[in-house]
Amino acid sequence: MVKSNVVWHTQSITKEHRQRLKKHKSFVLWFTGLSASGKSTLANALECKLHKMNIHTYLLDGDNIRQGLNKDLDFSKKDRRENIRRVAEVTKLFVDAGIVVLTAFISPYRTDREMARQLFNPGVFIEIYVKCPLEICEKRDPKGLYKKARSGSIPLFTGISAPYEEPVKPEIVVDTQNNTVNEIVDQIIDYLKTKQNL
Ligand code: ADX
Repeated sequence: MVKSNVVWHTQSITKEHRQRLKKHKSFVLWFTGLSASGKSTLANALECKLHKMNIHTYLLDGDNIRQGLNKDLDFSKKDRRENIRRVAEVTKLFVDAGIVVLTAFISPYRTDREMARQLFNPGVFIEIYVKCPLEICEKRDPKGLYKKARSGSIPLFTGISAPYEEPVKPEIVVDTQNNTVNEIVDQIIDYLKTKQNL
């Protein structure tokens, strides 16, 4: 990194002021897992539930962010890292704004998820491993991408020709093979009620 002549400017209104106005804490729910494991579906359903509870939320989803902010990035290891770095920095701004952020990115590399975690105070980054066997994700194949990956027309596809590193100590593990969306949303809400005073 090039050292620049830039000095941090302290602002009067802080995260704590904004949280007080919103009457809840801000934190990030970081969904990670294979493509078609259910990250976006779960994040969307959870956001609906939180919204009904008068919680201010925002959902950042890989497929959407890659069509805007990150449309210059591919699926190489280097660009996936940059994808996660930018998303983590954006998430940090949203958390500072007092918002509960839900992110749905494969985020396949442990070191990249760790880099994201390090941007937050302890307890603010909640990693949710969306666990689902590759065979099931491949059977679901909602976008037909696994089929293309098997035929070789998509290179570096996570789970097929690129790695997915399972989380070692995620805050929450959810099993989308054996549980419904509603059951998992309740599981996460229970966790938040206990740990975040939701
Ligand atoms: S990440 O690995 O960099 O975190 P991200 O979540 O942003 O990935 O984007 C994943 C989405 O991009 C998948 O759900 C899928 O729809 C699409 N995609 C296209 N090419 C690939 C690929 N090579 N590997 C994984 N996902 C891909």
